[in-house]
Amino acid sequence: MTDGRAQTLLLKNLHRSDSATLEAYLQGGGYRALARALKEMTPEQVVEEVKASGLRGRGGAGFPTGMKWGFMPKGPGPKYLVLNADESEPGTFKDRLLLERDPHLVLEGFLIGCYAVGCHHGFIYIRGEFVRPYRILLQAVQEARARGYVGKNLLGSGYDLEITVYRGAGAYICGEETALLESLEGKLGHPRLKPPFPAQVGLYGKPTSVNNVETVANVPMIVEMGANWYGNIGRPKNTGPKLFCLSGHVRRPGVYEFPLGIPLRELIYQHAGGMLRDDRPLKAVVPGGSSVPVLRADQIDVLMDFDSLAAAGTLLGSAGVIVMDDSVCMVDALLNLARFYAHESCGQCTPCREGTGWYVQILERLERGAGRKSDLDLLLDLSDRIQGNTICPLGDAVAMPVRSYVTQFREEFEEHVATRRCPRAAAAAPGRA
Ligand SMILES: Cc1cc2nc3c(=O)[nH]c(=O)nc-3n(C[C@H](O)[C@H](O)[C@H](O)COP(=O)(O)O)c2cc1C
Ligand code: SF4
Repeated sequence: MTDGRAQTLLLKNLHRSDSATLEAYLQGGGYRALARALKEMTPEQVVEEVKASGLRGRGGAGFPTGMKWGFMPKGPGPKYLVLNADESEPGTFKDRLLLERDPHLVLEGFLIGCYAVGCHHGFIYIRGEFVRPYRILLQAVQEARARGYVGKNLLGSGYDLEITVYRGAGAYICGEETALLESLEGKLGHPRLKPPFPAQVGLYGKPTSVNNVETVANVPMIVEMGANWYGNIGRPKNTGPKLFCLSGHVRRPGVYEFPLGIPLRELIYQHAGGMLRDDRPLKAVVPGGSSVPVLRADQIDVLMDFDSLAAAGTLLGSAGVIVMDDSVCMVDALLNLARFYAHESCGQCTPCREGTGWYVQILERLERGAGRKSDLDLLLDLSDRIQGNTICPLGDAVAMPVRSYVTQFREEFEEHVATRRCPRAAAAAPGRA
């Protein structure tokens, strides 16, 4: 969705009802970038172009994509590119839109990525619950194969590439890249200790690069239009178009495309139509999916890019913007989040396994009016013990929001203790009158 003011690049084909078909994609200039990469560029040149574009990964961490590809060893021997289509972060629904409505854009970017890292067998790991996107993607791979974009001797270039699409089984942790690799190998989705990093020891012990769906969707335009053109979109070191997922108490929730660096206030009040109810003002915003620190209403004059949000004490994450009005109880909202992470913890590390359960217990007693004043510091202490002390970043992904909810809305937590009840227990939920 856009408001007509911005040029759409990632969502440019979505106005067509047949946008998922190969014919529609070709009519819009699709697969020209793949042909250019295969016929006019060496794999190293593709990596250099992506490096020069400044593209940073859209899966959450914002790591530079060209640099990641550059870590892959050169020369013969099996190596893999894996597409992370597990999108499970609460508040995030952009990859699903791309997979359902423009699967060939995702596929073309992925195929170019495979060529760039010298991979002859690419894997697409798709979230188990994505039944429709899975079918659409399979159809797209079939169409691409029939046209010579997948298989032997791609477009007569001498380059061979097989693609396997693999369905996950519904675990949030399998979006973490090393858990994903374990799952792809048919094992339990338990994250691996790093180092070694996947670029050294990845899938089946071979060098592997893992990329997000939206990340690879940026690659065809970089190859076709060039790194200079791409680098002028967005802001320095935060380049390119970005998909933002707006949800919660806004009038027009949905996926919006804008250059990185759009003001958060503009996203909410101009594009997403402002607050759902005139009598319910903004209270809090989670700018980057459930794993990132929350902002108060008076902190939304910030630009939506990696570095600006980091400077503001939060993160762009997966760009899942969750908007909460003043009907929301922040203790209850945090309890909801803690339950999710406690359920999704794989249980390998004690701080995460035990700590997430403790969060739930403490927040439950605060919410039912049985909390103690010391519980607030106990929550903060738990976050200090979890963050940085676990195998994978899921520990941080719960510790950071807990710390931010308690510090940003401390008076509300104290109110639960002082009044021995939740003051907003009966407040309206999103969409209700
Ligand atoms: C608990 C957890 C869940 C994650 N889930 C996803 C996901 O669903 N999709 C995704 O692309 N990245 C996810 N990530 C990030 C991946 O580990 C990895 O950084 C990403 O796929 C790299 O792609 P990018 O460089 O293109 O951003 C998750 C990370 C963690 C710690
Ligand atoms: S931090 Fe949590 S999810 Fe990650 S490996 Fe440890 S126990 Fe598993």
